[in-house]
Amino acid sequence: MLKHSRLAAWIDDMKTLCQPDHLVICDGSSQEYDSMWELLLAAGVAKKLNEEIRPNSYLVRSDPADVARVESRTFICTEAEIDAGPTNHWTAPDEMHTRLKGLFAGCMRGRTMYVIPYSMGPVGSPIAHIGVEITDSPYVVTNMHIMTRVGQAVLDELGTDGEFVPCVHSVGVPLVDGASDVPWPCNPENLYIAHFPTTREIWSFGSGYGGNALLGKKCFALRIASAMARDEGWLAEHMLILKLTNPEGVVHYVTGAFPSACGKTNLAMLIPTIPDWKVETVGDDICWMKFGDDGQLYAINPEAGFFGVAPGTGMHSNANAMLSLTKDCIFTNVAETDDGDVWWEDMTKVPPAHLIDWKGNDWTPASKEPAAHPNARFTVSAAQCPAIADEWEDLKGVPISAILFGGRRATVVPLVNEAASWQQGTFFGSIVSSEKTAAAVGKIGELRRDPMAMLPFCGYNMADYWSHWMATGNKPGVRLPKIYYVNWFRKDDNGKFMWPGFGENSRVLKWIFERCEGTAECIETPIGNLPTLDAIDFDGLGLSDADIAQLLRVEIEGWLSEIPLIEEYYAQFGDRLPAELTSELNNLRDKLQAAKSEVA
Ligand code: OXD
Ligand code: MN
Repeated sequence: MLKHSRLAAWIDDMKTLCQPDHLVICDGSSQEYDSMWELLLAAGVAKKLNEEIRPNSYLVRSDPADVARVESRTFICTEAEIDAGPTNHWTAPDEMHTRLKGLFAGCMRGRTMYVIPYSMGPVGSPIAHIGVEITDSPYVVTNMHIMTRVGQAVLDELGTDGEFVPCVHSVGVPLVDGASDVPWPCNPENLYIAHFPTTREIWSFGSGYGGNALLGKKCFALRIASAMARDEGWLAEHMLILKLTNPEGVVHYVTGAFPSACGKTNLAMLIPTIPDWKVETVGDDICWMKFGDDGQLYAINPEAGFFGVAPGTGMHSNANAMLSLTKDCIFTNVAETDDGDVWWEDMTKVPPAHLIDWKGNDWTPASKEPAAHPNARFTVSAAQCPAIADEWEDLKGVPISAILFGGRRATVVPLVNEAASWQQGTFFGSIVSSEKTAAAVGKIGELRRDPMAMLPFCGYNMADYWSHWMATGNKPGVRLPKIYYVNWFRKDDNGKFMWPGFGENSRVLKWIFERCEGTAECIETPIGNLPTLDAIDFDGLGLSDADIAQLLRVEIEGWLSEIPLIEEYYAQFGDRLPAELTSELNNLRDKLQAAKSEVA
């Protein structure tokens, strides 16, 4: 019996709409987890991996038509289109509700409706929030078990009238008149991932994969939560959270926003190369921050697991991720080895001589296609990460000293610069970009802007989101984190990466840490504070003085040529663009021009 009458009424409504054959309220138990796998094994979509090599772990192969988040079918349904903004797909809420109700009518016939009460964040944390996902996919239930906290504790926390975000998901394939199922049902022709920020609800139809279906992650923890955060004065961000400890045992926590494919998971699990420093993981993808009574921002990782991209992950690139994956994992769309284990591109330097690829076909190193899908994933509990910080589930969160923004830039952007103010830091966040095309020598490549790495995840007008950042910085009595812009991807004139990255990024983290402590040197420049040439420990990297100067240089001409590109980018937001960003841009131009005439 559910004590929460609004929750019970909503479940009833969804049951009437979707017409499932059975209804299960999930309790998050290991028996429930195992029973989902029995169903998935019987359906032929999952395979148990070799128990000797990878205990209690499963391989799942999706339909090849359902392999990734689909941004083109992701909608933000605000009353006015302008409130979704120019970077989101928009449909009016009434129109979307009507369309969805048509699709959801009877969509679970022949199936079971699972109701998953889940907490984003440790149950009972003042920074956490609760969602309830209804789904007809047992695969979604297994992943939600790992990625969120599921079960009775969540219902207890909800009590009789607590707030929850209703999330409805269906693979969109009813089994009518005893029709038989396929291993991975999905309905890509009728795909909708719809968000209603005003009423705080999520409806997803047609896909069983990743962020389309595990609605706690991108849909709730970023798109809906970003709108909640705006309304309630906090921040919901696409950021990792790290704990840094220096040799004396002093601790700082930093967060970092990086677009996909910029090494975010690697940074979150970094093994430092500098002696006696420690880097531990609090989160790898999403960060919720609220102000504490002391005026500091405290952060939690709302997730309980990692849903990481497998290809590219190996002992050489991310040993902590690999060591997290020794047991109790789900692998989706990776390749299978002859001894019943998993493999993916770059897991080992030399691929096995024979594999079954992600589509179930024979594969050898001579094959033209990759063995694993490029977006193949592992799902694993964060508690299994050897670098997980003891306090990763602390109810009050961890106090944040610094926020990092970074893109993938071959040119112009230095290794690291520190914003002179929160306002300038917000400006840096708003212009985060990666080069889509390889930059020609001395030239900026075509840029994809991904402000605060939130482009696909901001649940309202991006310009209003920047205004919210500005307002956050203007709150009275707050002690704000410092903001940094980092770039691990700088190339030299021959197109070679200038910075080794990976564990060596700890050298930059050390400078940031020491800036937070007030012990590291910097110089003031038009783009904020840059490390002096000897402020970062570059010992043993084999970098020449010229390389170091290049990595830490303000490229006046390069930045000046970016100004019109930023202006052009901002123009799409019209009068919603916060005036502070225009003034930061003008200041930057003025300071660069002044610096240019000084040099001349
Ligand atoms: C992710 C992403 O899957 O950012 O985490 O795309
Ligand atoms: Mn992400």
